[in-house]
Amino acid sequence: TTIPVITLDGPAASGKGTIAERVGSALGFHYLDSGALYRIATLAALDAGVALDDEAALAELCRGLSPVFAEGRILVAGEDVTERIRSEEVSRATSRVAALPAVRRALFELQRRAARTPGLVADGRDMGTVVFPEARLKVFMTASARVRAERRFKQLAARGVAADLDELTRDLEERDRRDRERATAPLRPADDAHVLDTSEMNVEEVVKKVLDWWSDAS
Ligand code: C5P
Repeated sequence: TTIPVITLDGPAASGKGTIAERVGSALGFHYLDSGALYRIATLAALDAGVALDDEAALAELCRGLSPVFAEGRILVAGEDVTERIRSEEVSRATSRVAALPAVRRALFELQRRAARTPGLVADGRDMGTVVFPEARLKVFMTASARVRAERRFKQLAARGVAADLDELTRDLEERDRRDRERATAPLRPADDAHVLDTSEMNVEEVVKKVLDWWSDAS
């Protein structure tokens, strides 16, 4: 039997994570934050002093990772890295590391294994196109760069982190450009994805839309 999978792809700070968690808990499904895996790999590389263009060494490092996701925290080799992987430094470096094909291959199985009963909600860039092409529902979320930067700005402010809105907007656009233009698994909607512009929508509206599509699809 095939495991029910919902994929949520889209650019940085488009709200995928929030929506994926909400949809996942509404349906009692598991949740895969694939971006966290690329972030974890990148942080491990930075910590170990591995050069961010040493593809073979990075892939080897990825194969050795066994992150633990528990109660909203992320542990790597016993260390809680939940906050560290979200820093702007790690965000920027991650989009470089994630462009390397050997890194993507090394993390592929780890992602596939997340599909377990009763089902999975997976968020990222290539969930619908590469990792779970068989998914029963695929959603591609967009929002203008400014709206996304404002959302990120508020998230940071809520954590007491000061940020510059123009700089955040530039960083997001730079990251999106790299994710979209890379040769391997570029950011794009799957042919059979529903595209949803969330610029004018709140979280409840987006969750409802996805759950409606899910009941139509299953
Ligand atoms: O989703 P998040 O912003 O945490 O992802 C961080 C980075 O990881 C992205 O900018 C992208 O370069 C990479 N990524 C990816 N494929 C995924 C998820 C994330 O390349 N499925």
